[in-house]
Order: sequence, then C-alpha cells, then structure tokens
Amino acid sequence: HAIPWDPIAAAKGDYRHFMQKEIDEQPRALMDVLRGRIDQEHGRIELTDIRLSDADLRRVRRIYAVACGTAWHAGLVAKFLIEQLARVRVEVDYASEFRYRNPILQSDDERDALLLAITQSGETVDTLAAMEEARNQGVSSVAIVNAIGSQAARLADGGPIYLHAGPEIGVASTKAFTSMLVAAYLFALRLAQARGTLTPAQIREHIQALIELPGKAAQTIEQTTPLCIKLAERYHKASNALFLGRQINYPIALEGALKLKEISYIHAEGYPAGEMKHGPIALIDEQMPVICIAPRDHIYEKMVSNIEQVRARHGQVIAIGHLGDELLAEKAHHLIGVPATLPLLQPVLNVIPLQIFAYHVAVLRGCDADQPRNLAKSVTVE
Ligand code: G6P
Repeated sequence: HAIPWDPIAAAKGDYRHFMQKEIDEQPRALMDVLRGRIDQEHGRIELTDIRLSDADLRRVRRIYAVACGTAWHAGLVAKFLIEQLARVRVEVDYASEFRYRNPILQSDDERDALLLAITQSGETVDTLAAMEEARNQGVSSVAIVNAIGSQAARLADGGPIYLHAGPEIGVASTKAFTSMLVAAYLFALRLAQARGTLTPAQIREHIQALIELPGKAAQTIEQTTPLCIKLAERYHKASNALFLGRQINYPIALEGALKLKEISYIHAEGYPAGEMKHGPIALIDEQMPVICIAPRDHIYEKMVSNIEQVRARHGQVIAIGHLGDELLAEKAHHLIGVPATLPLLQPVLNVIPLQIFAYHVAVLRGCDADQPRNLAKSVTVE
C-alpha cells in the first residue's frame, strides 16, 4: 500500500513552523528578487519585466498603489520610494476601498496614470477588482506579484514584476513582504532612470546598497534572534502593544502590529509616532510594550523625543535602531540593533526583528503561527 508522505510537511524540514522557515529564507529571497535585474557594470536597472518603454515611464504623472493586508503596507513604503527617487506622486489605497469609490484615475485627454497592484498570491479578489477598474478606465497596470501565472500577473498589461520568493505557506506574510519592498525599490529606480531624476552616481549608490542587502538581512536574523526570544519571553503575556514609527518606517510599525495581532491575538496598534499624543498615549502604562522604530535618519531626533514621552508614562520601550546606537540604548529599555543601510532601504531590515518577535510570542502563547484562527492565506471571495 501507499507510503504515507506529506510533501508539505516534508518541505518544512527541521522547522517547527513555515513562518520560521520563511523568515530564515529572506536573505535568499532578497537575492532572488534582485537576480538579473541589475547591471552592476553599467550601473543600470534592467527590470525587463516591465512592458512599458522609457517614453511611457516618462509620461506617468501619478501612480495608484492598491493592495490588501501586508501588501498594502508594502504599498505605503512604495509611495516613499517612488516619490523620493522618481518624483512621481503616489496615492495608496486599500483595494477594497478603491474599487467602490468610483475613483478618478485620469482625465480623457491625459494618459498619465499607472496602477501598481501589489499582491503575494495574485488572487486577492479586491486587488483584482481594482485592476479591472483601472483597465476599464484605460489605465495600465503593473503588478508586483509572487505567484507565477496568477490572475494579477495576467491582468497586468504593464507587466508582472515577479518576486521569485518561492511558495509562502505561513498565513502571515514575511519573505513576500520584504521581497515586495525590494521589487518596489527596483521599480522606483527604473522609473528614476527613465525620468532622469537620479544621477548615474546616485543610481550606482542604490545598486550597491541593494547588493549588500541580502547579507545584511542574514546578519539581522542572526544577531537579533536571541534578543527577540528574550523579549518574547518577557512580554508574551501583554494584552496590548503599540508600534510607533515615522515616515517610511511608519508602515513598518503597522506591519509589526499586524504580525503580532494576527498570530498571537495580542491587541496591537501601529501609529505614526507624531500622532501618539492624539490618542494612544492614553493607553500607555507600565504593562504596555511600545516598540519604537528609530534608525538614524532625518527624523531620528523626533523619535527620540517620542521615546522620552513614552518613558514619562512608564511604558516599556523596545527600540529598533542601528547597531551600536548608544544614545538609543540609553533611552530605551531594550535596543534591537540592526545593520545600517540607505534610509529608504532600512525598512527591509527593521521589519525582520518584528517578524521574529511576533513569531516567538505566538509560540509562547500556544498559538499556531502558521494557521491563525479566522484568517486565510489568500482572500479570493468577498
Ligand atoms: C490575507 C493574508 C495576508 C495578505 C493579504 C493580501 O489577509 O492573510 O498575509 O497580506 O491577504 O494577500 P495578497 O496575496 O494579495 O498579498
């Protein structure tokens, strides 16, 4: 009779959960999303997946990024990347909101809008409906997508930009998210190259940072895991958690909160740190872990003063900052140090300890990190 063999269980190898395996696969996934898309010798972004010419890319005046869940957080990061690098305006929408608001994408005499759909599965019903809305209005779409041959990949007349992250089984997205950020970075650089908003020297600097990223991701996983486990042991009984960030790290605060709430069922909120005083500060007490993302960027001083405000209300501050940041180590109760990269790439590294922390909290609370209750990997019906 048949030998019992479960290919899915076999793929998990020595890992207890797919989520843990997929977190560990990130350095490889980041290499795979870059592969063949950078011409290091000539300092150029290739990204031949896009079926839009340089002239098409120069014509774009506005981009609508649409997505759901974790992919929507990638859209919020993409807005910063595209606006900063290529100087094109970006609006970010939840696909489920976008599709029902009869959006004004462009006027009849202009052909200057582009839809950017972001989706791991390529099958999320609301995201597909948003792409159809764009098509009905004569707007081209590009999809950042993982699943090869999925609906989103087929609907994207401007081309699917594949993540090549491999199958993601854990319901909570990890490697697909960091790969989405890098795919969006490549897309922003490709736009910048066509539009001349960056000098060749600047493009080379970004390319260099991208090439160094997988190694830094590996270093981040290796060096932050022991502390993340300790912090999970200390805080896994919390009933609330607050995640704060600013600018491009605000979506990372949202993503850290989403990871924690979806797999550990701890109520968690992500907030732009400057808004803390307009509400969430009322919740802070000595029980409350407040995770503050504070790399040394143009907004660092502001984050440090937010940390002081949290401490003044006796919140427990876990800071995510650069390795060896002594000031931050002094201000926070705990510092999770990550390697430094360019400010616009820093979110890729900052999110990794938040994934690891959420995973270990879920395990300590006896939750199934791979199959959280009530959640589906891909929402294909409304
Ligand atoms: C579900 C999953 C999330 C995912 C979201 C969007 O909610 O649980 O992990 O981020 O769908 O999925 P997509 O496949 O479109 O990225």
